[in-house]
Amino acid sequence: MNRIFSGIQPTGNLHLGNYLGAIRNWVDLQGDYECLYCIVDLHAITVWQDPAELLASTREVTAGLIAAGIDPEKNILFNQSQNPDHASLAWIFNCVARLGWLNRMTQFKEKAGKHRENASVGLYAYPNLMAADILAYKGTHVPVGDDQKQHLELCRDIAQKFNSDFDVDCFPLVEPMILGPATRVMSLRDGRNKMSKSDPSEYSRINLTDGREDIALKIRKAKTDPDALPSEVAGLEGRPEAANLVSIYSSFISKSPEETLAEVGGRQFSEFKRDLTELAVSVLGPIGEEMQRLVDDSDYIDGILRQGGTKARVISGPIMREIQEIVGFVQP
Ligand code: AMP
Ligand code: TRP
Repeated sequence: MNRIFSGIQPTGNLHLGNYLGAIRNWVDLQGDYECLYCIVDLHAITVWQDPAELLASTREVTAGLIAAGIDPEKNILFNQSQNPDHASLAWIFNCVARLGWLNRMTQFKEKAGKHRENASVGLYAYPNLMAADILAYKGTHVPVGDDQKQHLELCRDIAQKFNSDFDVDCFPLVEPMILGPATRVMSLRDGRNKMSKSDPSEYSRINLTDGREDIALKIRKAKTDPDALPSEVAGLEGRPEAANLVSIYSSFISKSPEETLAEVGGRQFSEFKRDLTELAVSVLGPIGEEMQRLVDDSDYIDGILRQGGTKARVISGPIMREIQEIVGFVQP
């Protein structure tokens, strides 16, 4: 049976990269699969989080997912710390994964930066917890943006080593689902950097809560080059900012960049940016408004997360008992 699992960190604002790279695909997949969508608060604390902000962010991201169209009745929507099985399985995976594997993780290198000795142990073991998130439910498919590819390869390595060490066929090898034309949305200020919550420039990203004025301003100020839009994808070579705007536009209209360029090739950026703004406002406007409305009702949001946590534990419980037996633990 196919089971979808994906996660998102409750840190900072949800942005267009999160939406086009992940959330929109999550919405499309619901209904066809059994889906678990998790706000990964245990991952968030691998770097310092102010407790009040973490709580607010967890509620905000939950509101954002519901506003974007995730149905909390049909799917399991919960925050990670509601289910202790994630942390228990992560410990077992800490003993399966090899130091050499984790040393290769580019996200750790980026996040730890020059002060590696000062990074938390949790940040280093982050990918093991991510593997545990998925495998505590025997998740088979994981819809994410392009930046998570390496972590999912590690998840497959862990599953394979566990199965072979214990000579069992316990864990599936997860399949990444990196879908659509905008799997890696880039900063609006620099087409070589990923759009990210941690970029100090507000102009680098469009937030799901941005109103028409902000969206229009950010797109107007987005870096481009002086040439017109090409009519073929080859003409985007060496033009990362142009390529980024074309991917975003394509994603909004659910077409491939080839199809988009066949329509808009030859236009100037000023005109293209006006159309892009209209598209962005029409898609993001209603989501931002609904998100604001939901976030004010924290009792409702907390209730959804608790209900999701209960449903999640029902699935992971028997799987954890199977794992404990395989490892040789006395059943609790
Ligand atoms: P994070 O905000 O790092 O927890 O990411 C949540 C989801 O959004 C993951 O599936 C990421 O791969 C995806 N994501 C984050 N930033 C981007 C981006 N700039 N472009 C595409 N997907 C992204
Ligand atoms: N590491 C992911 C990110 O930063 C978030 C995440 C945690 C995740 N656990 C997961 C994604 C499990 C997919 C499946 O975006």
